[in-house]
Amino acid sequence: MNSLYVYSGTGNTLHIADRISQSLGDCRVINMASVMGKKIKAEGERVGILYPVHAIGAPGVVHRFLSNLTVERSSWVFLVVDSAGMPLGAEAQCQRILAQKGIELRASFSVKMPGNYPPLRNPPSGKALERILSRGDRKLDGIIDRIKGKRESKPSTLFRWASEKINVGAIAAACKEDRKFFQTDSCNSCGICQSVCPVGNISLDKAGNPRWLGRCTGCLACFHWCPTQAIQYNKTTSFERNRYHHPDVSLERYLKWCKPKMEE
Ligand SMILES: Cc1cc2nc3c(=O)[nH]c(=O)nc-3n(C[C@H](O)[C@H](O)[C@H](O)COP(=O)(O)O)c2cc1C
Repeated sequence: MNSLYVYSGTGNTLHIADRISQSLGDCRVINMASVMGKKIKAEGERVGILYPVHAIGAPGVVHRFLSNLTVERSSWVFLVVDSAGMPLGAEAQCQRILAQKGIELRASFSVKMPGNYPPLRNPPSGKALERILSRGDRKLDGIIDRIKGKRESKPSTLFRWASEKINVGAIAAACKEDRKFFQTDSCNSCGICQSVCPVGNISLDKAGNPRWLGRCTGCLACFHWCPTQAIQYNKTTSFERNRYHHPDVSLERYLKWCKPKMEE
């Protein structure tokens, strides 16, 4: 058996996890947030940690996951981070956190995927999107071979200092970021925003309006998966921005992965 612990907002990381899982077989794909409230003892021949880069490092939910993590001695631990192309020292940051807990990271990989952070740039569409996805999939083929063959590869430590310096401060502020979300009149109270939030940070009030509960980890799933594009993030940018989710990850698949929510 193999175990993949995954965090994902718009399905890029989930797509990577699903491809690895299909290739390895006998694999559990677990929503990291669902095991957060307890000590985690990861087991399996291979244990994978997969997440998107946020603020050139790990999202807050990943920090919490890593702090609770222990791994069976015999497991081969690997990391896959995906980003819009600027991961800097994210892999090395994770390597150090694991090392401090006595967990050896045997292999580490980084994949460029479509960016999903609209304040920075519009999520790609059309030919540009196709190009990024097909390059990502080709890179993933090689990564999967390495994971199957348990071939070691250590991350570069060149930009670790930058990730360690910037990421933790930015992440600490992220839970307050959900004050920037609001919905327009096109909200039909379908509740999808509530269901897609991997950390259970959204509830619907009596009138059926979404309410963010202050423990956001900034994945923007609610913004991107809203079927009527009613959810906005940050008044200045979001109205003109594309909504994005990985085209091979259906809403049904995403919901199945994210259903077990964070236990507080
Ligand atoms: C809050 C936030 C911060 C991000 N920060 C970075 C970053 O520092 N560098 C980068 O290259 N991409 C960054 N991204 C883009 C994501 O890492 C990228 O789109 C990733 O593939 C999304 O994966 P997901 O669909 O599994 O959530 C950020 C995205 C979000 C939502």
